[in-house]
Amino acid sequence: MSADEHKKMAAMRAVEMVEPGMRIGLGTGSTAAHFVALLGVRVKAGLSVICVPTSEETRKLAESRGITLSTLEEVPELDITFDGADEIDEELRMIKGGGGALLREKIVAMASDRVVIMVDDSKLVETIGAYKLPVEVVPFGLTATRDMIETLAADCGCEGELELRMTAEGQPFITDNGNYILDCDFGRIDDAEDLDDALKFIPGVVESGLFLDICDVAIIAGDEGVRVIEANRDEVDED
Ligand code: 5RP
Repeated sequence: MSADEHKKMAAMRAVEMVEPGMRIGLGTGSTAAHFVALLGVRVKAGLSVICVPTSEETRKLAESRGITLSTLEEVPELDITFDGADEIDEELRMIKGGGGALLREKIVAMASDRVVIMVDDSKLVETIGAYKLPVEVVPFGLTATRDMIETLAADCGCEGELELRMTAEGQPFITDNGNYILDCDFGRIDDAEDLDDALKFIPGVVESGLFLDICDVAIIAGDEGVRVIEANRDEVDED
């Protein structure tokens, strides 16, 4: 089976967790898109839920599936958020932001009682960092911010190229919030908490793609089936 079929399997398991009346955060990316499509089927069959999307991309997709949408202004507390990830370890530390929606994803996740992450098993790693860490930065002072990221990350043992994300047309990628993204090729991140603290110290950094202590449940799908890991670190299900 392909990675995309595994993503769909994870989304199928996740959509079973949705209950009538839930206030739901909708993630961004191809796995989240599978989830939105499956949720749309349940909504068409009569399920009533209210959802807050984490990107314009997801908002459009959810709208096209007839899903009732709202905003965090109207619904500041959510019951549950379903999202994908670029990497996740067994302690449920994650790298996110491959789709460029990391800031809204983190805001929505933090406003949720529970966060469910759906991934294909290629995303499960021993130590996060092989995937370039996306860091959202304000355009003002880009070079100064980049230099400061390099310096403070090196103090945490993280060194590597910092690449300004570009569009296919050769322009800087602009997030839904009007910012840039630096993709940081740090390699293995041994102390993600330390690096996260260092990045938060930098004024030009809006948010990093390190999602630590955020995931409550990881649904990991592969050729062997679906595995569910809960944040209490107990494996609860395998089939
Ligand atoms: C978007 C994200 C996505 O969750 C992440 O990039 C995974 O994407 P996909 O489900 O397409 O593999 O963080 O900002």
